[in-house]
Formats: sequence, C-alpha cells, structure tokens
Amino acid sequence: MKCPRVTGTSSELLDPASPVWQSVPSETLNLTATPLVMQPSEYIQNKWQSLGHGATPQVTVASAHNGQEIYFRLEWEDATDDGNPDDLAAFPDQAGVMMPIKEDATLMEMGTADQPVNMWLWRADVDPPYYVTATGRGTSKRHRESPLAAKAARDGGRWRVVISRPFHVSLAAEDIVPLAPGMEHKCSFAVWQGSAQERGGLKAYQQRWLPLEIAS
Ligand code: HEM
Repeated sequence: MKCPRVTGTSSELLDPASPVWQSVPSETLNLTATPLVMQPSEYIQNKWQSLGHGATPQVTVASAHNGQEIYFRLEWEDATDDGNPDDLAAFPDQAGVMMPIKEDATLMEMGTADQPVNMWLWRADVDPPYYVTATGRGTSKRHRESPLAAKAARDGGRWRVVISRPFHVSLAAEDIVPLAPGMEHKCSFAVWQGSAQERGGLKAYQQRWLPLEIAS
C-alpha cells in the first residue's frame, strides 16, 4: 500500500473524519478467522469450533505521513459498540497493525525468536494504544511506554480509527520497526469484535504482508 506524504498537522491526521484523508488512497482487504488449530489451548480450540470467530469480513485501510509521524486509518463494520464494556466478562473492540521488526518475520506465527514483530494495538477502552512486540504466538509483550497515539470515532455501525507513531522513537533498537520517509516496509492488520468475545488469538486478520511504500 502507498503511504503518501501529505500536508497536515498531527491533530488533523489523527482525526479519522478529517478532510486530509480524502486525498489518500485506501484499500479494502478481506479478513479471515485465525486458524483454530493455532489457538493456544485445547479449551479454546474446542469451544470456538461451535462459537465461531473472525466476525469482521473486511477492513478498509489507508496510510499517510507528514514527515514527522506515520498514520494508519482503519475502518470496518461493527454493529455493536463495545467501546467501554462495563462487565468484567465482556471484551472491548480492538484493531491492530502488525509489522516485521526484521524483514523475514512470519505473519502466521507472529514472528519467531530471531525475527520479531511489532503490533500497534488499539483498544476502544484504552488510550494510548498498546505497543506490543512478539517472537511467536503466546509471547506477546506489552511495553510500559507507548510511543503511539490514536483517535477513534463511531459512524453508524462502523468504527473509524487512526493510529500513529513518530518516525523517530526512543526505544531499544530491537523493539523498533525501522520506518522513515522513502523506505519500503510490510504491514498487516487484524480486527477483534468484543461482542463476539474476540481477544488475543481470536480475531479476523489479513493473511499476507502488504508492501508499504513510504513516500520520501
Ligand atoms: C495481522 C495479523 C495479526 C495481528 C495484527 C495480531 C495482533 C496480535 C496482538 C496485538 C496480540 C496481543 C494482544 C494483547 O496484548 O492483548 C495478539 C495475540 C495473539 N495472537 Fe495475534 N495477530 C495477528 C495474527 C495472528 C495469527 C495468524 C494467529 C494464529 C492463530 C495469532 C495468534 C495469537 C495468539 C494465540 C495470541 C494470544 C497470545 C499472545 O498474546 O501472544 N495472531 N495478536
């Protein structure tokens, strides 16, 4: 996907309804349910055989930068607003961007020990988004410091969310996806619907890395 350079302040770009997004090309991606056989426990594998998961069939994504920060705008249908679940047994709506930290990281496994991945996890009830790194399924680590920002809005039965990161961040080098104007990278996306009890490994995801072309 193309990530053009646009003229816009941080608050304009962070706003999913801002006119600045009208000139940015978007793509609609088909999502699929994560394979049950890859879920971490037998209990989940058995229980979700009948419950089903992967409730979000598509997500529309766009990306842009202003020379300082890079932004992803995600939009998807979700009839129920699980923005602030008031019951401890309920789950919030979530969406994530995943990128390899090292070039050959596997998407299906969410990375491996020598090829980690980084996820930007927007949760409707948490601000800022979680900055997560992983070296395989079941290894996700939420970092204490998050360099991310997000803004979300409901529009009818849809979520519109923008997630951003400054190009320059002060974290340990092994935890940072190298992103800069003029670079090419890869990304993928996932969506969780709280009303369908989706969380962790139970989600709808885009199966392949998409090339990310960041304009100089
Ligand atoms: C674009 C694709 C994907 C993204 C963006 C993504 C993102 C994430 C995130 C952000 C978490 C941590 C949740 C938290 O901190 O609360 C997570 C957990 C998990 N994911 Fe993925 N994931 C993707 C693909 C997959 C696939 C294909 C599987 C295979 C079943 C999978 C299995 C899991 C499992 C089992 C967990 C829970 C254990 C853990 O936290 O490590 N994921 N994922």
